[in-house]
Amino acid sequence: MWVCLNGEFLPEDQAKVSVFDYGFLYGDGLFETLRCYRGQIFALEAHLNRLSCAASALRLPIPSESRLRGLLNDTLLKNNLQEALLRLSLSRGIGAPGLRPARCTSPTLVIAARSFEGCSEAQYKQGVSAVIVRTPRSAAVEGGANLKSLSFLNNVMARLEAEAQEAFEGIFTTKAGFLSEGSISNLFWCSRGKLSTPSRAAGILEGVTRQVIIGLARDAGWPVEEGLFRPKALFEAEEAFLSSTGLELMPLSTLNGQKIGTGRPGPVTQKLQALFSKAVLERTKPGGP
Ligand SMILES: Cc1ncc(COP(=O)(O)O)c(C=O)c1O
Repeated sequence: MWVCLNGEFLPEDQAKVSVFDYGFLYGDGLFETLRCYRGQIFALEAHLNRLSCAASALRLPIPSESRLRGLLNDTLLKNNLQEALLRLSLSRGIGAPGLRPARCTSPTLVIAARSFEGCSEAQYKQGVSAVIVRTPRSAAVEGGANLKSLSFLNNVMARLEAEAQEAFEGIFTTKAGFLSEGSISNLFWCSRGKLSTPSRAAGILEGVTRQVIIGLARDAGWPVEEGLFRPKALFEAEEAFLSSTGLELMPLSTLNGQKIGTGRPGPVTQKLQALFSKAVLERTKPGGP
């Protein structure tokens, strides 16, 4: 694979970042994962908006939007990929040890691509399991900043906790005990015809997929409630699912070993999956934007 490092394409084994890069030293930076369908990047604008807002919150200079669009598309083309994931990583760059972010003058930008290998059909058919983890949500995101930060340690710890219990996903709660999100996904559930999902106040990363789903559900006439919810709401839901760029909508069948609803993908989830697939087809037309 070819990797784009600061605008230059290099074979992956030659794409190297300094050991003094603040991304490596302090997790000081941001990333985005983007999904490509039939050679077209899905929801590119939303990803670039999130990156740009987060970068300005961190006072991290980034290349222009058109430059980033060009580099992302070039990475896809250079690797001759159609169904793919692109990973953009942006760090503060090389600096002196001793935490002096303002002295780092040149951010490091890496764009890597890989062929998309999603979850199995069986997982989508049966749904997956989740557990509520003890690991806290990281302070930066619980404060409400929509940062897809390179500092992913809490997410790694949540993942380890989930894996130790053989669960597919670990669900964070806030300090006050409200549901937040998964280690790499947002969370939705449905009860009595209403779709619910934790709001920004619950320390979530506002997922691009989550926003698309909320839009599709509202367009279809379903009420969507964003707010602060106790785990009880999810335990008592009729159906639930996780969302992310890589998963799209993944039905959630159990929480802490307890079935959610029938423990099978429910009708609302299935309808939203179909609407999502239709939206992907419409928004990634070859030759389209
Ligand atoms: C913590 C977290 N929440 C939510 C998401 C879903 O975001 P998106 O739909 O933009 O992929 C991700 C994706 O990686 C994530 O890491």
